[in-house]
Amino acid sequence: MRLNDKVAIVTGGSRGIGQAISELFAKEGAAVIIIDLLPQGEAVAKGINLNGGKAEFHSVSVTDKAAIEALFEKINSEHGKIDILINNAGITRDRTLEKMSEDEWDAVIEVNLKGVFICTQAVAPYMKANKYGRIVSAASNVGLRGNFGQTNYAATKAGVIAMSKTWTMELGKYGITANAIAPGFTMTDMVKKIPEEHFAAIKASIPLKTVAQPMDIAYGYLYLASDEARFVSGICLTIDGGTSR
Ligand SMILES: NC(=O)c1ccc[n+]([C@@H]2O[C@H](COP(=O)([O-])OP(=O)(O)OC[C@H]3O[C@@H](n4cnc5c(N)ncnc54)[C@H](O)[C@@H]3O)[C@@H](O)[C@H]2O)c1
Repeated sequence: MRLNDKVAIVTGGSRGIGQAISELFAKEGAAVIIIDLLPQGEAVAKGINLNGGKAEFHSVSVTDKAAIEALFEKINSEHGKIDILINNAGITRDRTLEKMSEDEWDAVIEVNLKGVFICTQAVAPYMKANKYGRIVSAASNVGLRGNFGQTNYAATKAGVIAMSKTWTMELGKYGITANAIAPGFTMTDMVKKIPEEHFAAIKASIPLKTVAQPMDIAYGYLYLASDEARFVSGICLTIDGGTSR
């Protein structure tokens, strides 16, 4: 039970990597608060509670500053603290540079970058008050390497890495760590729209010749969210089967 008695917020926990993080954290003893717009987060929380864990679901957008602030205040007063923030919610709107619309650019910046800023800013006072915090945010190996058709997405993921390094400097003295995770290609709904032939090429390009499952990534989040990682801050942990090296 590596997260016994911890209170953990997981954004985008309704499916994919966020669902795996929520289920793993609950198994490790955390009370998990799932924040997502997709209603199936309710079923994820119910499943955790039926399995003897503790979870709740809130339908709030990470981009809604006032709603996030009000929710974090409620969580802090009901649970007495907030130990862990997992900034996992993210979206894609892929298009090559010349075809990408301003709306597609703005949508991805709003969720992947501003949403992470809003949630982290909202949680910081509670973590500072307790002199303890673990902030782990979803980057991507695309944020390290770029990717065809992902000008907007790559910019946000590089931004998440830089924000984590900045928070390491600003919040470190309060016992708060801030790290990023850079997954490679992971089998979730986010990547299901990729055509079969592209998928085969992606797989062939990965040294381990396979793609990640959500739980492969969740274990990285578990490490960085645990007490074992107390001296780890400002890093980007790449989990991509050896693609970035
Ligand atoms: N799947 C991959 O290959 C991969 C690779 C690298 C990084 N990532 C990153 O990991 C994270 C999770 O990815 P995934 O593959 O599980 O994606 P996913 O699409 O399966 O899940 C993302 C979740 O975020 C939620 N979400 C989106 N906008 C939101 C908002 N405004 N407020 C609250 N919740 C919102 C969605 O409803 C969804 O449940 C993302 O940040 C993604 O960019 C994924």
